[in-house]
Amino acid sequence: MAADSSWVRIVTAQTPTNIAVIKYWGKRDETLILPVNDSISITLDPSHLCTTTTVAVSPSFDQDRMWLNGKEISLSGGRYQNCLREIRARACEVEDKEKGIKIAKKDWEKLHVHAASYNNFPTAAGLASSAAGFACLVFALAKLMNAKESNSELSAIARQGSGSACRSLFGGFVKWVMGKAENGSDSLAVQLVDDKHWDDLVIIIAVVSSRQKETSSTSGMRESVETSLLLHHRAKEIVPKRIMQMEEAIKDRNFESFSQLTCADSNQFHAVCLDTCPPIFYMNDTSHRIISLVEKWNRAEGTPQVAYTFDAGPNAVLIARNRKAATQLLKKLLFYFPPNSDADLDSFVLGDKSLIKDAG
Ligand code: DP6
Repeated sequence: MAADSSWVRIVTAQTPTNIAVIKYWGKRDETLILPVNDSISITLDPSHLCTTTTVAVSPSFDQDRMWLNGKEISLSGGRYQNCLREIRARACEVEDKEKGIKIAKKDWEKLHVHAASYNNFPTAAGLASSAAGFACLVFALAKLMNAKESNSELSAIARQGSGSACRSLFGGFVKWVMGKAENGSDSLAVQLVDDKHWDDLVIIIAVVSSRQKETSSTSGMRESVETSLLLHHRAKEIVPKRIMQMEEAIKDRNFESFSQLTCADSNQFHAVCLDTCPPIFYMNDTSHRIISLVEKWNRAEGTPQVAYTFDAGPNAVLIARNRKAATQLLKKLLFYFPPNSDADLDSFVLGDKSLIKDAG
């Protein structure tokens, strides 16, 4: 280590969030965060929903500390500690001649890190904030500590922060393979196709409510595992087939099949929540009205124009087959949920801001 203890080494990373089209809901191992089924997601454009994390290391830091959206949070929870421990174990020598910094592999055990993370979207409102957060933290720490692991290997560490985080280490469509190993070494994310493969798709998020959800994903899925028979049937009998069909639909850019599978899987995930004792309600009346709007429109068109999916909250993630469908969708949303009315939405998050202009 450099003799002078005033140096600071800083790394900043940005990671987008991801939205599952085949949902992860249920763990077979709570500590290692191992899921009961495979899942598939689409990673969003980093310019819209993303986390930016800056990590720093200095001999003058006397403990690990972290700030989330400007507020210090406790690192005592096992999830942060697990991620830090796993990356520290893979840390390598760092030499920055310009700054006169040399950190040997063994020095990392004694050094403390500070991390500051910002979400540019509502935290814990069912918009997968923990996914982007842990993926970004793990990625930034890996760069800081010069860990040589691949993104798939890092995904198995991010998974121990929050399951869905493992899928944010890649762009495009990503599969989280549940794996078989008891130590979780093969429970990691792989990229199915990159973001250029199907770039006609336009994602619009209708923010029905930006309030924090009442039941966290972690406790909700724990209760579902304990009480829902449907969850176990889904994991064993339904998801394995759906995963194969979804991979096929993505490979062929088959929107008809993609939207049918996406909507069906979202509805089944919420059915599992209802099948949980006591039942969990993530969607609200506005979410249900959005589903009806899309279902009626798709039926009237003969070919589906839009797929919908809802995570652990009331906000709708709407995937339009192309720009034209996205513009029509926005017009419909603005017509049925007029701004400043009782039925208005909190906001839209768009893949492309110019769509609002097109939609008038
Ligand atoms: C509904 O990844 O937030 O978004 O692993 O306990 O942190 P933990 O849960 P989390 O759950 C996400 C659930 C979901 C579906 C999905 O993203 O696949």
